[in-house]
Amino acid sequence: MQRLLLSGLLLLAAAAHSANATSIYAGQARAAAVCSQCHGIRMPSADAPFPQLAGRDAGYLQSALKQYRDKTRKSDLMNAVAGSLSDDDIANVAAYYARLKP
Ligand code: HEC
Repeated sequence: MQRLLLSGLLLLAAAAHSANATSIYAGQARAAAVCSQCHGIRMPSADAPFPQLAGRDAGYLQSALKQYRDKTRKSDLMNAVAGSLSDDDIANVAAYYARLKP
């Protein structure tokens, strides 16, 4: 009984966490599925023309992504990629890349 109650509380805490707080894990999943195709995770591949993201300032990454999303910064590729990101998605993926060591 006590164990059931405890696991219920843990589940609730996990749900609340993913709804509000910045989630490195969500950022990691998105980076692996989407961003890494061009930017890599720690490093773009040597001959790729894509800027490195790992270890960059999270605030910088967030503002760059918001500029791509609202098209004040132009890039056909990044306007398309950022167009579907929510504020939370942007915060998550920026937090993930910022804490990686390049
Ligand atoms: C299809 C290839 C592609 C994908 C996928 C992609 N990017 Fe990009 N990204 C680019 C290119 C090309 C640029 C350079 C655009 C420019 O000149 O502004 C760029 C630039 C950026 C920049 C600006 C870097 C700087 O130095 O100012 C950020 C931040 C960024 N991308 C984040 C992301 C994130 C986060 C994702 C995943 C959600 C992602 N990108 C997915 C191609 C891509």
